[in-house]
Amino acid sequence: MAHRSQGGLLSFAMLILAFDVSGTLASPKIGNPVKSATFLSPEFVLGPGSVENRYYSNIDFPRGHVGIKSFHAEVIDDSGNPIALHETYLHHWVVAKYYQRRGMAENSDKHKFQLSDYKLARNGGICQGNVLGQHFGLGSETRKTDTHVPDPYAIEIGNPDEVPEGFEEKWLLNVHAIDTRGAVDRLGCTECRCDLYNITVDEYGQPLRPGYVGGLRCCYDQTQCKVQQGYGGARRSLYLRYTVEWVDWDCSIIPVKIFIFDVTDTGKRLNGSTGHGPENGCQVEYNVESCSSANAASDGCIDVKRTSLTMPVSGYVIYGVAHQHTGGAGSTLYGEDGRVICSSEPIYGTGKDVGDEAGYIVGMSTCYPEPGSVQITSGEKLLLESNYNSTQKHTGVMGLFYILVADRTTNSTNFLYSPIHIHKNIKVSTPAVAIVALFGLAMAIAVGVISRMKKGREEGYQPIMA
Ligand SMILES: *[C@@H]1O[C@H](CO)[C@@H](O)[C@H](O)[C@H]1NC(C)=O
Ligand SMILES: *[C@@H]1O[C@H](CO)[C@@H](O)[C@H](O)[C@H]1NC(C)=O
Ligand SMILES: *[C@@H]1O[C@H](CO)[C@@H](O)[C@H](O)[C@H]1NC(C)=O
Ligand SMILES: *[C@@H]1O[C@H](CO)[C@@H](O)[C@H](O)[C@H]1NC(C)=O
Repeated sequence: MAHRSQGGLLSFAMLILAFDVSGTLASPKIGNPVKSATFLSPEFVLGPGSVENRYYSNIDFPRGHVGIKSFHAEVIDDSGNPIALHETYLHHWVVAKYYQRRGMAENSDKHKFQLSDYKLARNGGICQGNVLGQHFGLGSETRKTDTHVPDPYAIEIGNPDEVPEGFEEKWLLNVHAIDTRGAVDRLGCTECRCDLYNITVDEYGQPLRPGYVGGLRCCYDQTQCKVQQGYGGARRSLYLRYTVEWVDWDCSIIPVKIFIFDVTDTGKRLNGSTGHGPENGCQVEYNVESCSSANAASDGCIDVKRTSLTMPVSGYVIYGVAHQHTGGAGSTLYGEDGRVICSSEPIYGTGKDVGDEAGYIVGMSTCYPEPGSVQITSGEKLLLESNYNSTQKHTGVMGLFYILVADRTTNSTNFLYSPIHIHKNIKVSTPAVAIVALFGLAMAIAVGVISRMKKGREEGYQPIMA
């Protein structure tokens, strides 16, 4: 059922079912019934050690002016069986919103695409360019991480007044999965250690930066991690199955903005550059050195990374969750005065069952502050702290923090600023990187755009994560 276009784009997903679950999920505050649908990504095929990192445009998604209430995803095989993380490691999945000029053929040759025909509709911030601009996205923790948005709040999508004139809203899915069956070093494969991938150049044929030992630049699409000799697992078809819950929009619903903070954010925003490099903004990934090689015992073998971030708007925190990789020991977002905005801890699996795989982060704890109780003000300097167990070294880890922020609570006297201004006829100026990324030509949008200038020509580098 999944189609692959000539341009190499996979753009159709399959609607499995859509049904109304009002009655079980309807809430007292949002009158409209909660609807739910489950969709499948296009098929991807993995054999022992292999990697898929694909972008699928125009995926199935709820249409119309609605409020998203929750988003769940997991990897399944073609019989619908959920696949355990120690077989297929789900590095990340990311769903991003974009606008496409109306009237374009969906699957025409990618060379005919005009950059100006696409625009990423990024989240509230705060990384540079389109980096971490997605609306939804998680990794191995997806099965046990609560994503529901409490009433009367929801993530507003499909508002016709926000879509630039002549464009329509669409959704892009990026799935990055690593088959670690038979791997010589399972953790090393999931951490994209370059030596295990036998990589010397990146996806675009450029040599890796000196000292680059692990991360997404070493486990790009169609790379191969080292497998035990003679290991004979078969290649198999897999899908990302995702379930979305939503309500039809009405004025009683309070919209929330999505912010994604990155502990590697340098805070620098190079003029005009959306690029990903040590000197600019969010790096997305970092490495944790082993405490035996660093300054041992004194810190109890916990690597603590912190960064200061400036909140661009005022509002009330409705939800919070961190994203960490194996070794993660929790993450906390603090306000300028030191108050805890949200602390999120990993849930490690303890066995072999799907959703409880030992050694993997199978969930992250979440924060649901009493609405109105946790307030952030525009310009406030937040502190993000990400802790990792450094008993052993880790490459390509992440320290992201995702919050949902409302500009008001149900107490209508609590307005911090007037409701979001509605833009009609937004002028579309499309950063080239956005578009390129949309079609997986050079990089990643949804998640991150790594680009750099080299000898006068811009090189798109790799996309990044969730
Ligand atoms: C590693 O890569 C090199 C060059 O790309 C190739 O010649 C060699 O066979 C590879 N080694 C393994 C073990 O795959
Ligand atoms: C930054 O870019 C803007 C517009 O692109 C330009 O007006 C400004 O002079 C630039 N600033 C620096 C420091 O390059
Ligand atoms: C850190 O990880 C090691 C295994 O790598 C484990 O033995 C140890 O208990 C962990 N420490 C903490 C504080 O979780
Ligand atoms: C609403 O907010 C105002 C101002 O913050 C406060 O004085 C009032 O007690 C609040 N009312 C409720 C019902 O929370």
